[in-house]
Amino acid sequence: MVAPEDAEAILEHTRVLTEDGRGMVFGLDELPSVDEVRSRIEKFLSDADCYLVAHDDDGLIGTIDIARIQRRRLVHNGMLTMGVHPRAQGQGVGRALVEAALAWAEVNGVERVELYTLDSNARAQKLYESVGFRLAWRRDAFHRRPDGTLEADLVMEWRAGVPGS
Ligand SMILES: CC(C)(COP(=O)(O)OP(=O)(O)OC[C@H]1O[C@@H](n2cnc3c(N)ncnc32)[C@H](O)[C@@H]1OP(=O)(O)O)[C@@H](O)C(=O)NCCC(=O)NCCS
Repeated sequence: MVAPEDAEAILEHTRVLTEDGRGMVFGLDELPSVDEVRSRIEKFLSDADCYLVAHDDDGLIGTIDIARIQRRRLVHNGMLTMGVHPRAQGQGVGRALVEAALAWAEVNGVERVELYTLDSNARAQKLYESVGFRLAWRRDAFHRRPDGTLEADLVMEWRAGVPGS
């Protein structure tokens, strides 16, 4: 589970992923401050939402979070975001994180998890589909790339207890 002391490492992790660019929807000039990252962690902790971090011997290599909608009638819905450091990708870290986060969802009454992924992000979609996410809908022209062209993104959803939901 994440701790407020992880804020600087998470910000650096986000900076590296943003610089790499693949799968990301914002630029380096839009990174949050370390205080904003710490506040976000504190909100997850106070809401008892899911925020997991993965480390290796050299530091933080992955994050995943599921934020529930904080409304009594909607709190069974969560929104998932994740990222694995480029040096650790393709080694099973993403799968381990998403499986742990969905296990958390199962035992915490989160019956539906939603995520957004760029149309071009085939490797993320493959991972999500393999753990039970299905395409909910496609938003054409949702994302404007740095070169000005437009790209669709996919809204994917997972339902607790529904294999291949
Ligand atoms: C997408 C991402 C989270 C996957 O994490 P990862 O640790 O690299 O993934 P894993 O090694 O656990 O692989 C899980 C699955 O992803 C897919 N995958 C991983 N690397 C892949 C590649 N190079 N090409 C195609 N599929 C790939 C495979 O289906 C793999 O399944 P397998 O375990 O049966 O081989 C990670 O690459 C990442 O953070 N990318 C940049 C940011 C991003 O895209 N975040 C998600 C935004 S929606």
